[in-house]
Amino acid sequence: MEDPNFVQNFLKDSGLERFLEVFKKHEIDGESLLELTDNDLIEMGIVIGPRKKILSRIKKLKTTLSGSFATNRNSSVENLEIFSLNEKVKEGGVKVVILVGGPSKGTRFRPLSMETPKPLFPVAGKPLIYHHLKACTKLSTLSEVILIGFYDINDTWKEFIASAEAELGINIRYLKESDGRLGTAGGLNFFRPQILEGNPEHFIVIHCDICCTFPLVDLLKFHKENGKTCTILGKKVPEKEAHKYGCLAIEPSTREVLHYAEKPETFISDIINCGIYVFSPNIYNLFADAFKSKQDNNDATYLQLEQDIFSRFCGEKQVYVYETKDFWLQIKTAGVVLKCSEELLQQLREQSSDTLARSGDGKTAPIIIGNVLIHPSANVHPSAKLGPNVTIGEGVVIGEGVRIKNAIILDKAEVRSRAFVCFAIIGWKTCIGKWARIEGQPDYHVDIPGVTILGTGVQVAGEIIIRSSVVLPHKELGVDTKNQIIL
Ligand code: GDD
Repeated sequence: MEDPNFVQNFLKDSGLERFLEVFKKHEIDGESLLELTDNDLIEMGIVIGPRKKILSRIKKLKTTLSGSFATNRNSSVENLEIFSLNEKVKEGGVKVVILVGGPSKGTRFRPLSMETPKPLFPVAGKPLIYHHLKACTKLSTLSEVILIGFYDINDTWKEFIASAEAELGINIRYLKESDGRLGTAGGLNFFRPQILEGNPEHFIVIHCDICCTFPLVDLLKFHKENGKTCTILGKKVPEKEAHKYGCLAIEPSTREVLHYAEKPETFISDIINCGIYVFSPNIYNLFADAFKSKQDNNDATYLQLEQDIFSRFCGEKQVYVYETKDFWLQIKTAGVVLKCSEELLQQLREQSSDTLARSGDGKTAPIIIGNVLIHPSANVHPSAKLGPNVTIGEGVVIGEGVRIKNAIILDKAEVRSRAFVCFAIIGWKTCIGKWARIEGQPDYHVDIPGVTILGTGVQVAGEIIIRSSVVLPHKELGVDTKNQIIL
């Protein structure tokens, strides 16, 4: 190994740069790195998660990368993609593809999307997309997860992918639609070689902007037993809501989709498309047919699952629906994140309740009501009262006598003494003055009047009342505000 930075690049790509000093101390160079065993790593004091990650990366390097490629790795973005593209994917089983989209000009998720890509926005203490990935771990034959989007892979994405891989023990790779967005089916079609690599029996596609219980195991089972080419996860919604989604008219006994209409103006059905699908590999025959007719019309690159595939091929014994009765939400507005948080905190309560905060006596530790998640580095005054449905981020400071319910307080924010926060999302590093009131309404799907959202670095003076407003980053609020968007 001639590249002096080889070990450093290897650790960086694995999201484990913190072990660089340990590797240096043990004089691990490019040659000895490839020979490392589990016992060597134990002796170096490296714990199980990172150990597994290092060993699996070494195995992939040894089996799939040529020495010359490995020694010349230097651009971190390229590394992640090429490294992943050269990995040998397990044969058969099921793959998951998550459509992450890309930066959008839309304002509905503002101001939260101004600081972090929507898929990485923290909900119940973890990036939104982490919850999708966690659900994938329930698939016993999962071979890998592919993210398709048009975000540039920056360090935030890289660190997230590396840590999710290490924590969840799954392979994740990001594939970028480099020539702009290709549509919900265009990306699947463009990356066909990567998706079909390893001959998966099926692949599951998940929209990133949803939050639900992700019943992937049941959906896959249904597809194997009843489906043909495609099974859509469906759900009944109130009739007046249905027009916001793809609507499915079905044959009740077989669950075949007979008619599909994307956001129809007139009522078609109250069963909607939830944005999760299972496909058999022969879906590519339908993509080819759809593309052919588009090419005939000189419209050759952009392909939508909804309009070009489901609408066109329903009623031909290809498209089926599996209905869920569990909770499901689409995340379009920033306020809906608060509702997602409520659902995910309840899931935490049911699955690992010890991660949630326990109530104190209000003298030595804060009183906690319902589901509350507090980052270990947060400093909460023992006289504060928190909950239900509250998430307190890293480095947050909560002062004396503060009351917070139904809220997300993002990293490094401060809520000073006696302030009150309810139905609100408080941005990173934002400061709420003493005795201030930040209130919203539990109307999650509208921007105004709904949940109050304060962007990054907002300063709210003491005793000020902010009601149902959206405030863009770095504003200083010195007067009461109601039902406003402060730009
Ligand atoms: N990679 C990639 N490329 N992702 C995309 C693209 C694209 O060109 N277009 C959309 N996506 C991703 C978005 O990021 C989002 O996660 C998901 O696909 C849905 O895309 P939208 O275009 O925002 O559609 P929608 O949310 O209004 O409606 C869709 O989802 C509903 C369920 O949430 C439709 O499928 C509806 O029928 C469905 O009911």
